[in-house]
Amino acid sequence: MMGAVLNIKATTKVYGIFGHPVNHSLSPEMHNAAFQALRLDCVYLAFDIHPKDIESAARAIRSMGISGINVTIPHKESITFFLDEISPEASLTGAVNTVKNMDGKLTGYNTDVSGFLRAIKEDLGFHPKGLSAAVVGAGGAARAVLSSLCMNEAHQIYVINRTLDKAKRLASEFKKGFKDTMVQAVSLDDKDEIKGILSGSSLLVNATSAGMKGALSIELPLESLPKDAVVYDLVYDPRETGLIKASRELGLKASGGMSMLLYQGAESFEIWTGKEAPIGVMKKALDSTTPT
Ligand SMILES: NC(=O)c1ccc[n+]([C@@H]2O[C@H](COP(=O)([O-])OP(=O)(O)OC[C@H]3O[C@@H](n4cnc5c(N)ncnc54)[C@H](OP(=O)(O)O)[C@@H]3O)[C@@H](O)[C@H]2O)c1
Repeated sequence: MMGAVLNIKATTKVYGIFGHPVNHSLSPEMHNAAFQALRLDCVYLAFDIHPKDIESAARAIRSMGISGINVTIPHKESITFFLDEISPEASLTGAVNTVKNMDGKLTGYNTDVSGFLRAIKEDLGFHPKGLSAAVVGAGGAARAVLSSLCMNEAHQIYVINRTLDKAKRLASEFKKGFKDTMVQAVSLDDKDEIKGILSGSSLLVNATSAGMKGALSIELPLESLPKDAVVYDLVYDPRETGLIKASRELGLKASGGMSMLLYQGAESFEIWTGKEAPIGVMKKALDSTTPT
């Protein structure tokens, strides 16, 4: 990255990520590698924005002429109030992870939605059309997963969460928006019901932060899944979570969140620059970050 830093000029376009905390983000490595590979006069920085400052930070995108921003925890929902336009998939998801500044007009997108779809397709050969899925979690990431599954005609989705009320709210929101997909809320404590649900699911997704480095994985009766079911864990640190390891030990195809991170980043890059993202370069940059 030394080259990118030394090449910064008055003309250099600034991109970045708003999050809190943000120092764990791998997006600067991924995007700066892509800018360098395509010899674009651009740089990508991480901005630690406290929740109380999100309005002034959003306004600064315009006033400081920042060309584009990724948005991560905890700002994906709050930033939507300060944008001029929201894309259809971001509006359905209720969250924005990418902002493009076009001559002062700020448009919000959600590339987690397509990033997730591409990840399950490329890693697991899975397409949700007509199939049943169990999604654990009811936070911002689960929203993107639900959007992706509903927009791609999943037959049935179970939203399993520790806090049942949150799962119920999410399920009822998506049921209203997508009449052709059945969406049902389930408590993570209801182990018997979860066994039955998993036995009829083709896809299991972990969209909780459980399993992140230093945190325990969620315990699920994985043996109830059909033998040809696939498992996707949005957590990418560690690369192989307890859930992925346990799924693979049962002979199930399973993959971790690095691919979703890559594909959502590639789509943000394309939205900002109008150029095809150098996927191989971006993947290499992610792979070279400290594996755990
Ligand atoms: N790979 C990618 O590109 C990508 C993209 C987005 C997010 N992610 C990852 O997805 C994860 C979730 O992100 P988020 O934005 O949805 O976070 P969030 O909005 O804070 O939601 C966290 C979710 O995890 C659940 N949870 C947390 N700890 C738990 C535990 N010990 N046991 C059971 N459930 C637990 C919460 O349940 P309650 O409702 O009960 O609190 C909630 O449903 C994070 O690890 C994030 O890094 C990855």
